[in-house]
Amino acid sequence: MKQTMGVSTTDFDFIRDLVYRHSAVVLSADKTYLAELYLQPITTSLGFTKIADLVNYLRNQTFNHIHTQVIEALVTNETSFFRDIYPFETLQKFVLPELIKKRAIARSLNIWCAACSHGQEPYSIAMLMREHFPLLANWSVKLIASDFSQKALTKARQGRYNQLEIQRGLPKNLCDRYFHKVDNEWQILDNFIKMVEFQQINLVKTWPSLPKSDVIFLRNVLIYFDIPTKKALLNKIKQQLSSDGYLFLGNAETTINLDASFERVQFNKGICYRLQQ
Ligand SMILES: C[S@@+](CC[C@H](N)C(=O)[O-])C[C@H]1O[C@@H](n2cnc3c(N)ncnc32)[C@H](O)[C@@H]1O
Repeated sequence: MKQTMGVSTTDFDFIRDLVYRHSAVVLSADKTYLAELYLQPITTSLGFTKIADLVNYLRNQTFNHIHTQVIEALVTNETSFFRDIYPFETLQKFVLPELIKKRAIARSLNIWCAACSHGQEPYSIAMLMREHFPLLANWSVKLIASDFSQKALTKARQGRYNQLEIQRGLPKNLCDRYFHKVDNEWQILDNFIKMVEFQQINLVKTWPSLPKSDVIFLRNVLIYFDIPTKKALLNKIKQQLSSDGYLFLGNAETTINLDASFERVQFNKGICYRLQQ
């Protein structure tokens, strides 16, 4: 049996299958190093001698919190404040002004960050609204942020970030205005945490009932899925999006060749998608 620094091909195939079945994230066969990097600490903390023993345990037990721990460890949570900046510029300069005009009578807006990781994305949107659209304070604004990872959501709900996380994308004036220092970390103000409704939602399982979304951020998650999963997810997203709403994807993601109901819209350097009219 081929052994790659601690994780056999058979064990890695088992792990890949576990991750795929629960999150739809595809770990390619060349990602063995990820298993070694992230499973070793779990192996040690649980008192197993080697990763093979952990995998053996996972094989022989019904699904429990250790399976969850392993899956969450292998799915990337990479994120940052105002990631890639242009989606946020587009939201600020084009999408929100348009939607605010259209919703002026109902005065209600629903935004969904559908794979929010540690929360930087929904908090960026919350800060952007507070900075540029103070009138929204008197609207009914629902900002839902979800992820399948409970671990990621716990951190997101806490709203506390280290210096490195803060330096990644958060302008100093916003840090000064909306965070306070606790020990060596930065805590977002309580009323920002309250602006976001965090929910655990697995995008590839049944969703809870959600209000139709005027804006959906589904950024940097499609990239981890295979084509049938991307198509199935976009099909559900299009039923979730308001007829005049906007979908934001990651820079390396598109609806093109996956779902013809969306059209690509470019605003300066920002790209987003809406349903074909
Ligand atoms: C790379 S992060 C992207 C975070 C953020 N959207 C951004 O662009 O910065 C991908 C996130 O997708 C989440 N994810 C992966 N598979 C998922 C699934 N099936 N359902 C919900 N979230 C999922 C991961 O837990 C992770 O937090």
